[in-house]
Amino acid sequence: MAGKKAHLSIDGIAESIELPVYPGTTGPDVIDVRSLTSHDVFTFDPGFMSTASCESKITYIDGDKGILLYRGYPIEQLADESDYLECCYLLLNGELPDAKQKAEFVKAIRYHTMVHEQIHHFFNGFPRAAHPMAIMVGVVGALSAFYHDALMIDKEDHRKTAALRLIAKMPTIAAMCYKYSIGQPFMYPRNDLDFSANFLYMMFGTPCENYVPSPVLTDAMDKIFLLHADHEQNASTSTVRLAGSTGANPYACISSGITALWGPAHGGANEAVLKMLMEIGDESNIDKFIKRAKDKDDPFRLMGFGHRVYKNFDPRAKVMRVTCQKVLADLGKENDPLLRIAMKLEKIALEDQYFIDRNLYPNVDFYSGIILKAIGIPVNMFTVIFATGRTPGWVAHWHEMIGNPFKIARPRQLYTGPAMRNYPVRK
Ligand code: SDX
Repeated sequence: MAGKKAHLSIDGIAESIELPVYPGTTGPDVIDVRSLTSHDVFTFDPGFMSTASCESKITYIDGDKGILLYRGYPIEQLADESDYLECCYLLLNGELPDAKQKAEFVKAIRYHTMVHEQIHHFFNGFPRAAHPMAIMVGVVGALSAFYHDALMIDKEDHRKTAALRLIAKMPTIAAMCYKYSIGQPFMYPRNDLDFSANFLYMMFGTPCENYVPSPVLTDAMDKIFLLHADHEQNASTSTVRLAGSTGANPYACISSGITALWGPAHGGANEAVLKMLMEIGDESNIDKFIKRAKDKDDPFRLMGFGHRVYKNFDPRAKVMRVTCQKVLADLGKENDPLLRIAMKLEKIALEDQYFIDRNLYPNVDFYSGIILKAIGIPVNMFTVIFATGRTPGWVAHWHEMIGNPFKIARPRQLYTGPAMRNYPVRK
């Protein structure tokens, strides 16, 4: 990548430092700072606000324009025309599948949905009241035990099999986390149901009677998985890449991504949004919470608002908002009190100078929780749903990294601790 250069002059260093500048297909150029260590200087960027950690061809975000592309396709078009498994194929392979490729992929996922029977016993070590995310982190990490030896990550077919297994097993494990928490028996996946219908079946079916997932809820579930499938180098994906750069087992890497996702500033926000809306309780309380969100001395933030990259509407939130209104109308819940509070909160915040000045708009988590609640999914399962949806993104980034020359990720630091000093001589 020859071309533009950046010239850095640093007080105390005689010569100007010339750094290569690389253009992407679109978006900001990057300055290659790798040679700076030879000048005994590091870059400093806590939170990686201005740092490109890698080169990737998978997903592109334009935060100012509110654009999100999976392999170049706008998220709005994929939400309208595609489905979750087709997007999984797209993220993993780079192109949309033809009919034969799609059928083969769907079949391959279908025949990996079961988990080893021993996994069932793994759950028994958890209290029934354990947060489902704590269980999911443990169970997904434990998958390493079942596939550790059958995986040579430098072989593409081994990596692709691990990707299929993870995409296929996450909904099964997610549903098992829910069933375990309510004391109901696990439901085995069914090969006669499509991906999202099968997930709802494993969540809400019981051995006592036949459960037929409603097409409206199945479509909403599929759209939620699709909208969460990938999002560039977010905190959890970066965690997966960092763990993967050590050569760790992909199941352990995905487990580390689930752990990072859990935080309320990231994937835990959908659960936090619902808790916030329930705490607001009535439209008359909204102003009090807006005031708290603006108070520097109050740690409260408006959950579901703001984003590190989007300084415009999160395009996923726009799709989610329409889906939310459709699902609630189809369920006869268009007057859902939480939706009314959410719509009023959104209107007030978008007109408030504090939020306008800071480009704080609703993000993907603002509406997803209301849909999930309408589908009947408990609040503590929301981030588990997010993790399930995000799995193809995590595995696609892991696969992309391992499939190309990579180095172990090992950031440096600005050290401001004590200078070297001697251990005090004992008197
Ligand atoms: C996801 O990275 C991804 O792509 C993530 C994600 C994905 O798909 O992977 O998109 C999913 O994580 C979406 C974000 C979900 N999180 C939330 O909804 C939690 C609430 N949002 C905030 O915590 C916050 O907006 C972040 C964490 C999302 C972004 O934080 P930044 O980019 O570090 O911004 P910041 O904290 O520096 O905030 C800038 C200013 C500050 O005020 P000032 O110091 O300038 O006066 O905006 C304020 C913040 O106090 N601010 C908020 C706010 N978010 C930022 N004030 C009130 N409510 C908020 N929600």
